Amino acid sequence: MAWPTERLQRALPDVRLQILPEVESTNTRLAEQFQQGETLPRLLVAERQSAGRGRQGRGWVSAPGASLTFSLARCLRPRDWSGLSLAVGAVLADAIEPQTSHPTPRLGLKWPNDLWLADGADGPWRKLGGILIETVTAGAERACVVGIGLNVQPLACAADLDTGHACVQELDPGWRPDTLLERVAPPLVAALEQFERDGFGAFAQAFARRDLLRGRPVVTRGGTTIEGLAEGVDAQGRLLLRTASGLLRVSSGEVGVRPRQAVD
Ligand code: BTN
Repeated sequence: MAWPTERLQRALPDVRLQILPEVESTNTRLAEQFQQGETLPRLLVAERQSAGRGRQGRGWVSAPGASLTFSLARCLRPRDWSGLSLAVGAVLADAIEPQTSHPTPRLGLKWPNDLWLADGADGPWRKLGGILIETVTAGAERACVVGIGLNVQPLACAADLDTGHACVQELDPGWRPDTLLERVAPPLVAALEQFERDGFGAFAQAFARRDLLRGRPVVTRGGTTIEGLAEGVDAQGRLLLRTASGLLRVSSGEVGVRPRQAVD
């Protein structure tokens, strides 16, 4: 693939850019490098991942030419780490589908950090991309590894994915992994700097605009099952759930949308 390596490196002079035909997982590779003493920002793109990782211990399915898989890692010292994944999601979505050209977004964010394509107010929604953020100790610092997986064109195994499958080419058939990388990487690098300075507050409005769960009945998955009405997120990016016993703040995990009750 014709990656825009030189152009992108010029646009991001402080980031060491590497594009490899195959690695096990770009997140794993960068996490290891920072644990072994790397201190400078790095962006690693893989055309193929042999062991791509998703959230909650799941795998991540991608294919050369049909997906964009990369990680950005750097040392970061924010006052508060909470809300980083929401900020990253909002910046990615705004880069792919700018607010100026798309006042009504089709690209939505499902808390905490999934990108979904909404085919109407009540769905069906299909997953277009995911974000896996990990932090590691890097000498005396803490480094974050921000892993991004985006579906660019349909995957052969799309029908087997229980999240459904959407791809960036549904928004614009002209997208390719290389053009998409050039679009999303610079704002992502800038967003990490801004997050370090200003925290989630700087991204709260951008997240709210694409918040797919707001106003919907949802149920937490994985740990204790809590049902409630999603009421957006608080200043730390925690999901606000209106439940029978009051307003709850959920800081991690996953939620599913409950079908609306039929009203006679
Ligand atoms: C999710 O939705 O579960 C998160 C998916 C994150 C996938 C990306 S692809 C690049 C980076 N390397 C990985 O192994 N995972 C992330």
